Amino acid sequence: MARLFLLLLFPSLLLRHRAQAQRLPAVLPLRRQHVVLPVPDDIIEGAYLEDNKGLNNWDVFTHIQGKIADGSNGDVAADHYHRYKEDIEMMHSIGLDSYRFSLSWSRILPKGRFGDVNPAGVKFYNSLINGMLQKGIQPFVTINHYDIPEELQQRYGSWLSPEIQEDFTYFAELCFKMFGDRVKHWATFNEPNLMAKLAYFNGKYPPSHCSKPFGKCDSGNSSTEPYIAAHNMILAHAKTVNIYKKNYKAKQGGSVGISLHMKWYEPLRKITEDHLAISRARSFEDQWFLDPLFFGDYPHQMRQILGYAQKGNSSTTAEESIIDTERSSYIHDYLTYLSFAIRKGADVRGYFVWSLMDTFEWNAGYTIKYGLCHVDFKPLKRTPKLSAKWYSKFIKDYEQIEMASEESPNHMVS
Ligand SMILES: *[C@@H]1O[C@H](CO)[C@@H](O)[C@H](O)[C@H]1NC(C)=O
Ligand SMILES: *[C@@H]1O[C@H](CO)[C@@H](O)[C@H](O)[C@H]1NC(C)=O
Repeated sequence: MARLFLLLLFPSLLLRHRAQAQRLPAVLPLRRQHVVLPVPDDIIEGAYLEDNKGLNNWDVFTHIQGKIADGSNGDVAADHYHRYKEDIEMMHSIGLDSYRFSLSWSRILPKGRFGDVNPAGVKFYNSLINGMLQKGIQPFVTINHYDIPEELQQRYGSWLSPEIQEDFTYFAELCFKMFGDRVKHWATFNEPNLMAKLAYFNGKYPPSHCSKPFGKCDSGNSSTEPYIAAHNMILAHAKTVNIYKKNYKAKQGGSVGISLHMKWYEPLRKITEDHLAISRARSFEDQWFLDPLFFGDYPHQMRQILGYAQKGNSSTTAEESIIDTERSSYIHDYLTYLSFAIRKGADVRGYFVWSLMDTFEWNAGYTIKYGLCHVDFKPLKRTPKLSAKWYSKFIKDYEQIEMASEESPNHMVS
């Protein structure tokens, strides 16, 4: 699923055929330091029990038969935990100036606030961050990316209990203390709006909660639990931002945002019913989180309604998946329309491709591949795809245009 960092713009799918017809150059009118490039990690690390890491909900879930498309798990994944040095080299060779990754909560706090900090986990992230900075690559760090220490699931049902807010802020503050001298760009959550639905509405993600007719689960309530979980996430986010502003911002000079899952809808017909349908759909999608964050309350339509009550294919060969013309043209088109939006005044600071390399993709296992770089999971060998080369050239061309525009003051870009 496409991830957009910090409330970015609309997926370009709708606009795609037009972009293909016009073949427009994707030149982004951003300032140099804002040309931010990929990518996050999730279950990319592997090493699921190494160096005292605690079990998390995904470790438990992926070991239950039938939960993952190809019967796989993330025990090894892309083995980034052991290969991060090589991966930093790969980022550097593509020309990335930023890399977005997520922390594994149970690697740092194996039992949440009910146990000690794991020094080996802290050491791993310090080495990763320092290694990136040495290569001029800025870390963009996401504090939580679907994974929760199993301890918190067992103790109080994780996101369904307000107790989770305390655990989350404890973890976040620890991260600010340990990494905030070097990390200036934080996101509290990755796609919490998606996480709430998949975990508590249709039960596809752990803890597999849902109720009929929305899915077949042993427990849960699809009409209430997604909203309870989301409420705890929103409050955990708000408390974390407050802690950062109060205790760390002056010293560390960074900022904290959130990364939401954005979908765009267009009316099929120009009639009121279709416009109302869109407004309802958006209120249960991004506005579910955006409205509380910006306006302090849930969307009107959502409150009214609740008052009552694209896929990859793993059977391609390595050679086929390395010639990923579709991914290259998708990124091209996306950037083209992003540049239109910027020219129209949208405040866009950066762009992250999802993702740097193929890895374990939640309950799709290894059947879906999002990477600019192919990973052969047997020898864990990395190979840049066509899209990595396209993107690398795009970055270089962009830098040249930037330099040229800096030299001629009549041709200001920003
Ligand atoms: C879900 O919770 C609501 C509100 O408590 C209740 O009315 C409804 O019966 C519950 N549904 C299920 C499937 O338990
Ligand atoms: C994947 O592609 C193969 C060959 O093109 C096809 O036979 C298979 O049905 C596809 N699988 C899925 C899940 O789409």
